[in-house]
Amino acid sequence: MKMATYSVLSGSVALITLQNPPVNALSEAVRTGITDAVQRTLKDPQVTSVVICGQNGRFCGGADIREFAGPMSGPPLVPMIHALEAMEKPVVAAIEGLALGGGLELALGCHYRIAHSQALLGLPEVTLGLLPAAGGSQRLPRLIGLPAALDLITTGRHISASEALKLGIVDQVTDDNALKMAVEFARSVVGQPLGPRRLSTRPCHSPPDVDSVLDQALAQVWQRGRGALAPVACVGALRAAATLPYAQGMEKERELMATLFNSGQARALQYAFFSQRVVGKWQPSGARWDNSTTRTIRKAAVIGLGTMGRGIVVALALAGVSVVAVESQEKQLAAARQMVPEMLQRGAGRRGLDTPPGVISFSSGLEDVSEVELVIEAVFEDMALKRRIFSRLATVCRPGTVLCSNTSGLDIDQLAEATQNPALVVGMHFFAPAHVMKLLEVVCGPRSSPEAVATAMVLGKRMGKVSVAVGNCPGFVGNRMLKPYMEQANFLLEEGATPQQVDEALEGFGFPMGVFRMSDLSGLDVGWRVRKEAGLTEQGVEPTRMRQGQRYSPLPDQMCEGGRLGQKTGRGWYRYDGPGGRVARSDPWVQNFLETYRARHGLVPRRIATEEILERCLYALTNEGFNILQDGVAAGPEDIDVIYVFGYGWPRHRGGPMFHAGQVGLARVLEKLEHYQHSHPDVPHLKPSSLLRRLVAAGSPPVQKWREFISKDRVHSQL
Ligand code: COA
Ligand code: NAD
Repeated sequence: MKMATYSVLSGSVALITLQNPPVNALSEAVRTGITDAVQRTLKDPQVTSVVICGQNGRFCGGADIREFAGPMSGPPLVPMIHALEAMEKPVVAAIEGLALGGGLELALGCHYRIAHSQALLGLPEVTLGLLPAAGGSQRLPRLIGLPAALDLITTGRHISASEALKLGIVDQVTDDNALKMAVEFARSVVGQPLGPRRLSTRPCHSPPDVDSVLDQALAQVWQRGRGALAPVACVGALRAAATLPYAQGMEKERELMATLFNSGQARALQYAFFSQRVVGKWQPSGARWDNSTTRTIRKAAVIGLGTMGRGIVVALALAGVSVVAVESQEKQLAAARQMVPEMLQRGAGRRGLDTPPGVISFSSGLEDVSEVELVIEAVFEDMALKRRIFSRLATVCRPGTVLCSNTSGLDIDQLAEATQNPALVVGMHFFAPAHVMKLLEVVCGPRSSPEAVATAMVLGKRMGKVSVAVGNCPGFVGNRMLKPYMEQANFLLEEGATPQQVDEALEGFGFPMGVFRMSDLSGLDVGWRVRKEAGLTEQGVEPTRMRQGQRYSPLPDQMCEGGRLGQKTGRGWYRYDGPGGRVARSDPWVQNFLETYRARHGLVPRRIATEEILERCLYALTNEGFNILQDGVAAGPEDIDVIYVFGYGWPRHRGGPMFHAGQVGLARVLEKLEHYQHSHPDVPHLKPSSLLRRLVAAGSPPVQKWREFISKDRVHSQL
């Protein structure tokens, strides 16, 4: 099959059109089509120039990522692009919509590039654990110089047509029809020398201090990459471009790609790419919400303008939604009136907007929300208060208004009960800071209607979030899994570890911050309040280490009682240069506190290996993920993994906790959990999930098959 058509316009311009919707990815059939079209062009004496374009206003989204999973067949890209570049007739790329990855590499093999002003260009291979290995790493620095190529290739960022013009990647940009312009342009350059237009024959213009530029870039990608291999390989390929002739540079590009292509990181990143696209479609119940009708929200309200509410207001306004922002405390209202416009301006600036598209009005009373189509409540995490607000909203708002809560883990159904129409109540769980963090958990209560869920999902997407539908249980998905992770970290302190040791192990794995540095940043009082509400804290008496029949660490409660709330008080698991300080320093006080605590409880400290820290923290978290899948709180492992990558700093090149468990081997994870459960029988959350056992018994199917396995398992258990 060929998925690139060949036609001749006005007898002399050959037009090659890529046809592989939705993004004209360079599948085997497309490559075959292009290769054949090039041959026809060469043979047709009437043709004096060539234009390459993509169907439906999209030039090309790059290599077909789906093909990476199997053996590659069909014409390879490198010789195909060389053949284009070597043609004696001018070849012009008409870039509409997008030219990404292999798409841009194809365009770099053309002699000229004309782009539409709305087009996006880039070499995002690094985000898939790869490098631009169809000559991109060698041609781009020859076109735009080493420093700019280092930036684009190691970050994989998409750039606008105007930036591409400034950098010299494209020759012209138009607001009109780019294809028409490319055809006229192709005619106009017939007969001009093509030698200088062939990027492979150009020298690479490197700065005089090329080694130090490359070394700096390497240091930067090490630091930023948190263990990711692809950015390092990208710098290696660019070093080859800057220091070797083109043919040897291509050889180096090929070698580096060969190591990356079969790496676990590349598989993890490609899994992450497809997971992000899968999660937008399913509800935990297994039903597809995207078949439901949704309401387009033009006007919304946010109740409570604290840390979260302010960020939500900004994110809504940037998405073009007009907002009524309500706060009951005068001081908080005044602070929001000052802070929200500043945050909004910065947010609009980042997006290249002069003013945000949505209008904001402030109020101190709920009666002003009567005209909105959706409300997001973000008051204190207090069930009684939230229920009062929901009951009041149900009377103030028009019938049909969708009512959402930003609760971090309270029961959505109890909130729904306080209203007359529980079907219209859903959770919209944003992450701090809400206008920056990409994750949104949309919590489906047992009575939430598909329409209300779909409305929240679509609104989240409009706000630039990755929306994941999750079920209703304490902590939903993300925070429910975080609890065992944090508990293990506390137990490790009791047993002899230090906060630095635990954090360094987790940061070495790839988290941007270890669990204790993270706690200091978000405030130790957040979890303290939740534990108090759950009746777990024992103030005033010598706290015991058992609660409700299970081991419990009162260490974080004691820290809070001593006023050590983290960065906000300048003291937490670390010490800071005063309240609000950011630089964490180890604190002898904490060391002393831990030693006294251990002595008081008769705990003999032991040396704890990094391996044990990682296995106990990460497998306890993952084990809860299996329980979540079994309970039907997440639709599939992809949903959990996307939540952890986007909301909790799980390193993307490790795919997510469930994918990682598959890579480690489910049997090994099970064996380790059994081992730790045996040596710590009183520690909760180490008891292996029965779903994990069943998956191991079934031969550990790959993560992509778990959804199907679970649904069959569920049907079976209902029989
Ligand atoms: N290969 C195979 N499939 C691809 C693809 C590619 N290079 N790029 C996109 N797709 C698929 C998506 O998986 C999705 O499939 P689905 O509808 O079955 O879920 C569909 O095309 C649409 O993609 P989506 O991301 O939902 O559309 P969008 O308009 O929001 O974004 C892109 C389009 C091209 C910006 C985005 O898909 C993207 O970044 N693709 C990867 C580009 C890339 O990295 N290329 C280099 C490959 S080495
Ligand atoms: P916050 O204490 O910073 O702000 C809460 C605000 O609600 C305060 O300004 C308070 O005056 C206001 N408020 C209280 N009662 C009100 C009423 N009747 N009418 C109007 N306003 C009222 O709290 P926060 O950190 O923004 O958290 C808000 C919600 O978001 C909680 O449910 C919390 O669990 C959840 N959440 C917090 C985070 C986080 O990291 N802070 C993350 C995700 C979710």
